[in-house]
Amino acid sequence: MSTDGVPQRTGDNLDPWYANYAERASGLSASEVRALFAVASRPEVVSLAGGMPFVSALPQELIQDAMQRVMVENGPTALQYGGGQGIPELRAQILEVMALEGIKASVDDIVTTTGSQQALDLVTKLFIDPGDVILAEAPSYVGAIGVFRSYQANVVHVAMDDDGLIPDALRATIARLRGEGRRIKFLYTIPNFHNPAGVTLSAERRPEIIEICRENEILILEDNPYGLLHFDEPVPNALRSLDPEGVIYLGSFSKTLAPGFRVGWALAPHAIREKLILAAESAILSPSSFSQMVVSEYLATADWRAQIDRFRGVYRERKDAMIEALSEHLPQLSWTNPNGGFYVWVTLPDMLDSKQMLPRAVRELVAYTPGTAFFADGRGRHAMRLSFCYPTPEAIRTGVRRLATVVNGELDLLDTFAGTGRLQLPAAPDYGSTPPSDLR
Ligand SMILES: Cc1ncc(COP(=O)(O)O)c(C=O)c1O
Repeated sequence: MSTDGVPQRTGDNLDPWYANYAERASGLSASEVRALFAVASRPEVVSLAGGMPFVSALPQELIQDAMQRVMVENGPTALQYGGGQGIPELRAQILEVMALEGIKASVDDIVTTTGSQQALDLVTKLFIDPGDVILAEAPSYVGAIGVFRSYQANVVHVAMDDDGLIPDALRATIARLRGEGRRIKFLYTIPNFHNPAGVTLSAERRPEIIEICRENEILILEDNPYGLLHFDEPVPNALRSLDPEGVIYLGSFSKTLAPGFRVGWALAPHAIREKLILAAESAILSPSSFSQMVVSEYLATADWRAQIDRFRGVYRERKDAMIEALSEHLPQLSWTNPNGGFYVWVTLPDMLDSKQMLPRAVRELVAYTPGTAFFADGRGRHAMRLSFCYPTPEAIRTGVRRLATVVNGELDLLDTFAGTGRLQLPAAPDYGSTPPSDLR
């Protein structure tokens, strides 16, 4: 208390409200590489860091037409609040999109959200008390880890390999946690063209993962923004198609159309869907009527399947450019070779630290995301995620060449000072910098 009777704030000079935050806000910390990414957004830097779709490949005029029709024909509705569950026309079209991955459902079971990111937030809010365990692949999507942290969840990673999540590792992790008396609320998984690992859960493993979770009464949260962006074969059917009662499925128009609309969705078992709608209404009242109506109009009038096909061609060419450039300039590293999506996971020799190396890379005018961003437990220092979605093939080749200069420069330094640098090179992609505890 100050002498004049006015209570003093107990924060600090930077933030006078520091002492007032809820405990959950302590999970909201800016990533250490955020400042660097601001530098990396300069035009002369080739950024292999972000996950931005190449929206310039969209038929802009068809989108403009859809917007115009919405405004001319239904302007007052588009500009008004809507229902918390989202507009029925769009939900019916979402059923068609999901049918491409073997999902049969009812329009009633879909909740439209502000991107699938909001669905992630709502599901976490509904299920997580502080200290509850969420199982997630090692590595996992940085944006999901952020949400889980903000609800004070305990994220426990489960090992994956080139065929996705490893069933035996999942069994072992569940048994260990159960043995410790810990509460597992759900398994968060990205089965297709994983962000950041680039791998896809094999068809053989899918029923096994379902079975393990069913036996252990663990809900599955299936996050699938990239499934339709395959380069060769379509992906195996969604986990949701195998177990409608045990899976909450998240979808999005961000990668197949455009993230600017901020339209995603959750498909949930009936009772959960009811709670999701209530949670969505309390968070945002209703998702944007305008965005939903434009997306719906676009889906109804444009050949969206052909447009997704064009996207596949664009991303395939970029992925090929990245893999060729890695083979040419960095043959001493190992990486995943995705059949779709946006990302390649690169494994460095043990003595290189991707986070420490990033400032040097930015100085060489190339940026990537250090592997540590994708782990909740500090792993990932010897890995990095490279995105091939946004830069042109030419820029990708330039970026990888610059990256090679940085990596080789670091290795040369190590050779000079330690003498042993090049002896411990990775033979295969490593999905974490230390062996996952469940496999040790
Ligand atoms: C795996 C994954 N899930 C969810 C999202 C969020 O997507 P949005 O909110 O744009 O639908 C992303 C975005 O990069 C992602 O990669």
